[in-house]
Amino acid sequence: MLILNKENIKKSISVIDALKSMEDALIAQESGDFDIPDRTHIAYKENVLLIMPAFGGEFISTKLVSVFPENKAKGFPSIFGSVFLSDGQSGKPLALIEGSLLTALRTGAIGGLGIAYTTPKNATTLGLIGAGQQGFHQVLFAAFVREITRVTVYDPFTKDIDKFIDKLQSLLPHVHFFIAKHAEECIRNSEVIITATTSETPVVPDKAELLEGKHFIGIGSYKPSMREFPDSLFSLIQEVVVDTPYAKEETGDLKLPLEQNLIEEDKICTLGKLINGAKTVNTKGTTFFKSVGMALFDLFIAKTVYEKAKEKKLGIEIEF
Ligand SMILES: NC(=O)c1ccc[n+]([C@@H]2O[C@H](COP(=O)([O-])OP(=O)(O)OC[C@H]3O[C@@H](n4cnc5c(N)ncnc54)[C@H](O)[C@@H]3O)[C@@H](O)[C@H]2O)c1
Repeated sequence: MLILNKENIKKSISVIDALKSMEDALIAQESGDFDIPDRTHIAYKENVLLIMPAFGGEFISTKLVSVFPENKAKGFPSIFGSVFLSDGQSGKPLALIEGSLLTALRTGAIGGLGIAYTTPKNATTLGLIGAGQQGFHQVLFAAFVREITRVTVYDPFTKDIDKFIDKLQSLLPHVHFFIAKHAEECIRNSEVIITATTSETPVVPDKAELLEGKHFIGIGSYKPSMREFPDSLFSLIQEVVVDTPYAKEETGDLKLPLEQNLIEEDKICTLGKLINGAKTVNTKGTTFFKSVGMALFDLFIAKTVYEKAKEKKLGIEIEF
């Protein structure tokens, strides 16, 4: 079995490999040729273990995520993740892969594809609300799919926004970075706006005149109780593009607007349908791509990392 840590993952795949892997996953989702059982949620005292399997023919993946909220006070991360990859025919264990970078890469690639298919090709200015782990990778993938020259970041809660920007600047030397004083400034400065926060309530101001003509990529909200976008966005958009149809029930960014008839269900379409050419989106108007993620994406990115790591002889191979 192959053990792959963060360094091995970084050396194994390129941005193009991750984008291609997620494109394949979104197309596979359209064909329905996979099985994603409900995630298992095990609570023990104040801690939680999440088990997320995916069956996809050639491979089976199981993502294990532990959430230990008290870790933060002790100075280390409250969430740890790993992905276990097995052979789809025999069940044989193949790889154990570090899960947090793997998740950030597949989510970055999904956001990048969202930008590639729902925003104008000549967009050069990006706004980021939420300077965390996902936000970092969202900017990297956005700068790969569009010729981004300016990034405006808004996050009043993060401890070290300068460090966040310095790290991005070293990877994207041609880009000018700015720190916004409020979300409105971030949106005014940008054509494409990514939200990647842990906020329960909208981080985008409820002002239609501010949002009109902008292109929104929602990454943060994955629970019905969480919302990053306000009601007025729905008066401006013709359709919502989602990474998975489950987004309709899983995120407050869609569940609540659907319940309030701010958007009709038949106006929600999957990114896979844009990729396979079944639908198109008018990128001249206001657009909204919403991602919640799913275990199928973990399966595809784990498979890609495993195959590339084998080719490049990365990681540690152990006999079970
Ligand atoms: N769509 C997906 O597939 C997917 C995948 C992974 C994570 N997520 C979700 O994305 C969100 C971000 O994850 P992360 O790993 O980057 O978390 P993180 O804790 O590393 O970063 C979140 C950032 O958001 C900032 N923030 C919180 N409220 C804000 C507000 N009102 N305005 C501006 N900034 C605000 C925080 O200060 C923090 O810097 C989480 O909700 C996570 O569950 C989604």
